[in-house]
Order: sequence, then C-alpha cells, then structure tokens
Amino acid sequence: MDFNFADRMGGLTGNAIREIFKYLSDPEMISFAGGMPNKQALPADILDGISRELFAGKGIYGILQYGSTEGYLPLRESAVEFVKGVGIDGAELKNTLIISGGQQGIDLACKVFLNKGDCVLVEDPTYIAVLHILKTYEAKAYGVKSDDDGMNTDDLEEKIKKYSPKFIYTVPTFGNPTGKTYPIEKRKKILELAVKYNVVVLEDDPYSRFRYEGQALPSIKSMDMTGHVIYNTSFSKIIAPALRCGICVADGEIISKMTLCKQATDVHTSTLSQALADGFLRGGYLEEHMKRILPIYADKKKLMKQAIKKYMPKDFESTDPSGGLFIFGGFKSGKETSKYFMEALKNKVAYVNGSDFFAAGDGKNTLRLNFTNSDDVQIDKGIKILGEIFAK
Ligand SMILES: Cc1ncc(COP(=O)(O)O)c(C=O)c1O
Repeated sequence: MDFNFADRMGGLTGNAIREIFKYLSDPEMISFAGGMPNKQALPADILDGISRELFAGKGIYGILQYGSTEGYLPLRESAVEFVKGVGIDGAELKNTLIISGGQQGIDLACKVFLNKGDCVLVEDPTYIAVLHILKTYEAKAYGVKSDDDGMNTDDLEEKIKKYSPKFIYTVPTFGNPTGKTYPIEKRKKILELAVKYNVVVLEDDPYSRFRYEGQALPSIKSMDMTGHVIYNTSFSKIIAPALRCGICVADGEIISKMTLCKQATDVHTSTLSQALADGFLRGGYLEEHMKRILPIYADKKKLMKQAIKKYMPKDFESTDPSGGLFIFGGFKSGKETSKYFMEALKNKVAYVNGSDFFAAGDGKNTLRLNFTNSDDVQIDKGIKILGEIFAK
C-alpha cells in the first residue's frame, strides 16, 4: 500500500541509540552505548517494599484509577521539595509538572514553542534525542561551538542574533554526550543572554546528582528571576528508567500550556510509577541510594579511563568528566568511528558514533562511551576489543 504519510515523516530515521538497542538483547553484548544505569544501581528491593505497602493500603484504588495530568499530588509535593533541594526555591505546585521521563519534558517544550521551520540552538554536540525530537516538529537545530567547559557564549550570542531561536537547549551539568560541566560564569552568561534577547532556555538536568568529585554548582534555573528557564529533570538515572517519570519546573504559563499538550499526549504519567517515585523520595531512600551507587560509578569511570590509556590507539583523546555517565572521545588522526561500528558490534561491543550528537553531523572522528552499565570485567574486555579494532 502506498501510504500518504505526513510531511514531517520525510527524512525521519530512528534515533541511533534506539537502533542499537535492537542488538543489546544479545546477552554477550558489552554495551557502552545507551546511558543505562548498572544493574546494581537499580533499587529493586526498595521498590518492592514500597509497592507492597502501596498495594496493601486503601489508597491503591486511587493509584490504579485515572489521575490528573499535572501529576499525582503526593509526588508533586515531593517533587517541589526535590527541586528546592537543588536550589530551585521558586518551585511551587502550580509551576511544577510531572512528566513521563525527561524526554517528555523536551518533547512538550517543543510542542508548546515550535512552529514548522523554527530554530533551536543546541551545544554541538548535544543530547541525541533532542535532534530527533526537533525533526518531528520540523524545526531546525543549529549547533553552538563547545569549549572545554561547555557552550561558547560568544558563538551563542552570535547565533541568537543570526537565527532568532525559540529556545536554547542545554545540559550544563555532566552533559550528554561529553560529560562537560559549565562553570558558574557561563551559566550566568547564558541566562543574561536569554534575558537580553528574550529567548527561553531549556535546562536539562538528569545528571547533576552523579557528581564523583568537586562541588555542586547552581542550576541556571536557580538563578532565573524572569521565568526564562524551563528546568527538566528525571528519575530515570537516580531511581530507574522504567518508571518513565520526571519533573519539569517553569513559569506557570509555560507549565499550563505543557499540561494541555501532555493531556493530549498521554493523559498523565502512570500513577503507579509516580507513587513508587514518591515512596522513594518520601521514604528518604534517595540519599542512601546515591551514596551507595556514586562510588561504584566513580570506580567504573576510572577503570574505563585506565583501559582507554592501555588499549586505545595513542591518537585517541577522551574527556575525564567529574560526573555523569559518559566519556566522549575522538581520534586526532580523523579516523571515522562509524566505519568501525559494525565490526565492533560483530565483536559484541557497542558504542555510539559521535557524529550522531552533532546538529550538522560533524564530529565523524568521535564516539561516546557509557561507563555505568557494564561490569568491571566487561569494561576492560570491551575497551581492549575496541582498541584492537580501531588500531586497524
Ligand atoms: C540529557 C538527557 N536528557 C533527557 C534524557 C531522557 O531521560 P528519560 O529516560 O528520563 O526520558 C536523557 C537520557 O539519557 C538524557 O541524557
């Protein structure tokens, strides 16, 4: 049948990471691809205890019923406290929306702000899914140069003037894919430019709790006095991706428009998931849980850096982030990582080609490695295999 699809489907291909997921069902595959938590970091026992209590209580019938689009009230209350805990003092119920994972916050922001052909500025490279989501809205992504410490604000200002973007998307703390963290001056400058040119900033922050060294930095939203910043965060990495649950805090007018769009998309986030997330926060499990998993992840990053030094070709340079889930690297010789990708998969190692994270497909010599998902033996073995493949 000759289907008459919408124009927006033209040129839309699957996000590379979702495509790689097809191969990951192979139990022998060592995956450095997706940003997946380690099995040890998924709090199955705690969630088991919370769910038993939920199902034994009278409230379970409300939880199994349809709920409000804004979110399950106990979680909304816990969410306000959670974001206040990261310095967002202005959070209140009326400007806080529970979302079905951080990804939905990005999607809803796009739905609220973007017309066909509109422009969005992203750091180059940026979170792969944003580029994919923007395509579904027939919007254009323009990459802003990235320095060692994040988005180059001179280039940002130039591109704001040139493209009049609807918003700036940024992951200022332990960014995906690079792991970079913007210093406070850069955060202030981005906010200053947002106010000066009246552009919204979508601050995506799924990783700031994954700090292995150094001091926490204030989010851009925590400094926002004018309502220009949408703050997006998620329980996927700190509790479990399967909850599909996150938080969005923004100006009340933006939140009410995002709520209208969410209603059309999925009515509300699964109340069962929300109740589990609420039980996790309210029960005070998060701090202990993070205390347990941070040293595990810090060791894995160290192990991967050591393996890179030992096995990867000498012209491979990589980041050494003080937090997050990823190491990003590239070959100074210009070696194109995509040419080695299928051979790596055949040898049961998965990574993501770096060019997939660039707005215009640059960075062909780069790749992203996740260090949290694999066990320690797999990290050494997988990087050794990659080293042999890339030496060819
Ligand atoms: C920067 C960034 N934003 C958002 C998300 C989406 O997370 P979620 O699983 O909560 O939808 C991810 C997931 O990897 C991410 O890296």
